[in-house]
Parts: sequence; structure tokens; C-alpha cells
Amino acid sequence: MKFSSSALGVLGASTLLASGAGAINLEIGNPDSIKSAAKTIAAGMRKYYTGDKPGDTPGNLPDPYYWWECGAMFGSLIDYWYYTGDSQYNAITVQAMQHQIGDYNAFMPPNQTKTLGNDDQAFWGMAAMSAAENKFQDPPANQPSWLSLAQAVFNTQAVRWDESTCGGGLRWQIYAFNNGYNYKNTISNGCFFNMAARLYKYTGNTTYSDWAERMFKWELGVGLMSKDYHYFDGTDDTINCTQINHIQWTYNAGVHMAGAAAMWNVTQSDEWKAHLTGIINATSIFFSTEAPNVMFEVACESNGKCDVDQRSFKAYLSRWMGYTVKVAPWTRELIMPRLQASAKAAAAQCNGGAGQDQCGLKWTQNGQNDNSFGVGEQMSALEVIQALLLDQVAGPVSANTGGTSKGNPSAGSENQNKPLTFNSITTGDKAGAGFLTTLVLIGIIGGAWWMVS
Ligand SMILES: *[C@@H]1O[C@H](CO)[C@@H](O)[C@H](O)[C@H]1NC(C)=O
Ligand SMILES: *[C@@H]1O[C@H](CO)[C@@H](O)[C@H](O)[C@H]1NC(C)=O
Ligand SMILES: *[C@@H]1O[C@H](CO)[C@@H](O)[C@H](O)[C@H]1NC(C)=O
Ligand SMILES: *[C@@H]1O[C@H](CO)[C@@H](O)[C@H](O)[C@H]1NC(C)=O
Ligand SMILES: *[C@@H]1O[C@H](CO)[C@@H](O)[C@H](O)[C@H]1NC(C)=O
Repeated sequence: MKFSSSALGVLGASTLLASGAGAINLEIGNPDSIKSAAKTIAAGMRKYYTGDKPGDTPGNLPDPYYWWECGAMFGSLIDYWYYTGDSQYNAITVQAMQHQIGDYNAFMPPNQTKTLGNDDQAFWGMAAMSAAENKFQDPPANQPSWLSLAQAVFNTQAVRWDESTCGGGLRWQIYAFNNGYNYKNTISNGCFFNMAARLYKYTGNTTYSDWAERMFKWELGVGLMSKDYHYFDGTDDTINCTQINHIQWTYNAGVHMAGAAAMWNVTQSDEWKAHLTGIINATSIFFSTEAPNVMFEVACESNGKCDVDQRSFKAYLSRWMGYTVKVAPWTRELIMPRLQASAKAAAAQCNGGAGQDQCGLKWTQNGQNDNSFGVGEQMSALEVIQALLLDQVAGPVSANTGGTSKGNPSAGSENQNKPLTFNSITTGDKAGAGFLTTLVLIGIIGGAWWMVS
């Protein structure tokens, strides 16, 4: 079954409302208008971050935000600097990224051990990869480079490839004592694919492309990806991945889109061109017909059930649509109409809250802010708007096209056997970037399988 417009439900009713006071009228094609909107929205996001305050921990957002989302947020601020040239958040970004490096120089801080998923680790790793690709200021020579951090995340994950069930893949959780260890979820595997492909593009090392190919084939084989390039949430390895949780999220499509784009960029093969075309085409389910080409989170937006994590997912599809146009320029006609319509719609409702700088969750309501505020809402609007500046920037570099981040192919593989360090004070019982709730959904999803019930 595919998305049907009835899932939009009441959204159609509000389309006559005009934009409210303070709404941003984004002028597509006017870089100053876009930069000004991005600046306002980034400032509205930064207000949530307290990690740079004395006594607070750099790289943590306050409750209810999980650790991974802070990594995602700094990824969006690395892109913010790259697209706009505004460096006002660079210092807090560097401080947070360095503070969270943790064990193996691979974004495995002991404070997070009790819930550390491969996906959580990877959102920090992908931020480091963006820093290397965008030529974000290099850390001092005595600190791990951006590239080596991404390599370390990749290396620590490659050794977790697990053939004891389901013919391979990564588990969601890294440690067996955590809930979710038996879930092989698409975002963990997709992030690994994304990093492998981008490391291949950056370094030219075919070890990475071999892993990207292997992951892509495994996901297809086990059914986390369908033949027509739809990505599903995950699968339970206690039944050898014989049942799939079919919920679809924007971020799963996004991580794979960028990875496939990087693979096409290097290989320029028909095979990767077909994969990338298919992935982009399949994202149609995330774009409204009532509000033409405006992105929405089909699984939970219309029924008001998006959780804190899920409210940030549109950020990553937006981010990687922008990346895709840069590295696979022939995708421009497929992607730009969607980015433009979504950015304009997102900006039009970023007038909530006391400071009139808060974006809501829903972009499909013709400028009406839905009063759902938070880091995720803010980051999603920021990413979709700043991606419109893609013609203002050079595109991600690689080692032989101006990249300056020094690699270390064996990063993260040192000291893998050293005993785990633990800090149980701050971790509590938080869940990570995946969803414990989704575990119980397997098998109970009936007709409206694309929706969170
Ligand atoms: C771990 O938690 C302690 C105590 O809250 C804090 O001082 C430290 O900075 C944290 N480290 C990281 C990497 O988050
Ligand atoms: C488990 O799944 C994998 C991949 O689908 C398959 O190759 C393997 O034979 C299965 N194992 C069992 C015991 O059914
Ligand atoms: C595009 O997606 C539609 C709907 O999922 C599908 O029917 C069609 O075959 C796809 N086309 C390509 C080129 O993948
Ligand atoms: C590959 O990506 C780079 C940007 O990283 C871009 O400049 C280049 O044109 C792309 N190659 C092709 C063949 O499109
Ligand atoms: C390629 O990457 C692999 C995996 O990290 C590493 O073992 C190998 O040394 C690298 N090769 C080169 C030529 O850097």
C-alpha cells in the first residue's frame, strides 16, 4: 500500500489562513533572504543549548533531548556555517564535538554507554564527516582530525557487522546489556552506509565502497529496503529478521540518498544512478499533494504522534537532499522543486513563541504555526532553508580536491579490548535515536501501516 491523501485528514481545512505576524516570506533565489531566514531560525535553535554554560556539559542538550540529537544539531550548525559563512556558532560546535569524542576517539563517551546505539554514535560521526567535507576549521594538531573521527566511527562499526543472525547487518544497540540489542534497525545500517560512501568519496579507498555495497545489498536482501527503494524502520533478529516493521521515516530515505549520491559521484555508474533515482522517487510519500511538494513526516505528523526524536527527522532528509544536488547535479530537477516548496512553507510558519522565531512541526498548513516547538522543529526548518544556498558553495571536498583534514585509516581500532568505562549517574533510562516503542509495533500494524499507532 502506498500513501493516500486521506492521511492528511484535517490539514486541508486550514489552507485558507494567511501567514501571521512576523512570518518569514522566503524569497527563493535571493541568497540574502535565505541567509536572513536561516540566521533567525538558527538563533531560535541555539536558545535550547546550554552545554556551553558553566557547570553544564558541552555536547549535551537539556531534557528531553537525547545525546544523538545534539550531534545532529551540531551537524546542522556545521552546514549552517558552510552555507551562510556565519561563524558565530563555530566555537560552541568545536567545543561540543571535542568534549564528546570519548573512547577510541570515536564518539563513544562513557556517559552514554547505557543507551549507546550505532545510530547515536553515527550522528556525531556524520557531523565530523561534514566538517571534513566542508573544510570546517581543523582542530589543533594534537586533537583527532574531523576525518579521522569519521573513520574511527566507521571502523568501530565495521567490526560490529554481525552474521550470527539475519545474514549480517548492524544491531541498533552497541552493547548486549541494552534494550534494543536484538533490533537491526535501518537508521543504524543506513548511517553506516552513508559514512562508508562518503569516506570512499573523500579518500578513494575501496575498502569503504566495498562496505557500502555490502550494506546496500544486505538491506535489500533482508527487506529493510524494498525493491522500489522504500526504507522501513527495522527488524527483530530473534526471529532472524523474518518480519519487518514497515514504518517509513524521512531520515532513513535521506541517509541512503546521500550515500547513493556519493557512490554515484565516484563511480558514475548506471547502477548507482538507478539506485539514486529510485530512492529520490520513493520519497514522494513524504511530500504533500494538498500543499504541493511540501515535506511532511507521513508516519506521525497527521495524527500528532511524532515524538521528540521524530520531530527532527525532516532535517536529515532536507540536509541530504541538498548534499545530493551538489554531488549528483543531474538530480537537481527532481529535488529542487521539493526543497524550494518545503523551505518556503517552513519559513512561513517560523513565527511562533515569544520571540516569534520558533518554527512548528507542520509545514503543510499554509503558514499556520502549530505551536509544536523544539530543537527538532527548529533544525528541520533550518536545514531545509539553508539547503537552498547550495549554489553559493563549492560542494564537499575530497582529499584530492582541496580537503585538508588528515586521515587515519586505522582510527578507532586501537584499544578495542580495553574495559568499558562507565558513568551511570547521568544516563538514566533514556532511549537512543531508535525507538523502543517500535519493537512492540512489529506485527501489530494493520491497514495504516505507515502510521505510528
Ligand atoms: C560525563 O558526565 C559528567 C558528570 O555529569 C560530566 O562532568 C562530563 O563532562 C560528561 N562527559 C561527557 C563526555 O559528556
Ligand atoms: C537467517 O537469515 C539469513 C538471511 O536472510 C539466511 O541466510 C539464514 O539462512 C537464516 N538462518 C536461519 C537459521 O533461518
Ligand atoms: C516511482 O515511484 C512510483 C511510486 O512508488 C513507482 O510506481 C514508479 O515505478 C517509480 N519510478 C521509478 C523510475 O523508480
Ligand atoms: C562530484 O561531487 C563534487 C562535489 O563534491 C562535484 O564538484 C562534482 O562535479 C561531482 N562529480 C560529478 C561527475 O558530478
Ligand atoms: C583503506 O581503509 C582500510 C580500512 O580502514 C585500511 O585498513 C587501509 O589501510 C586503507 N588503505 C589505504 C591505502 O589507506
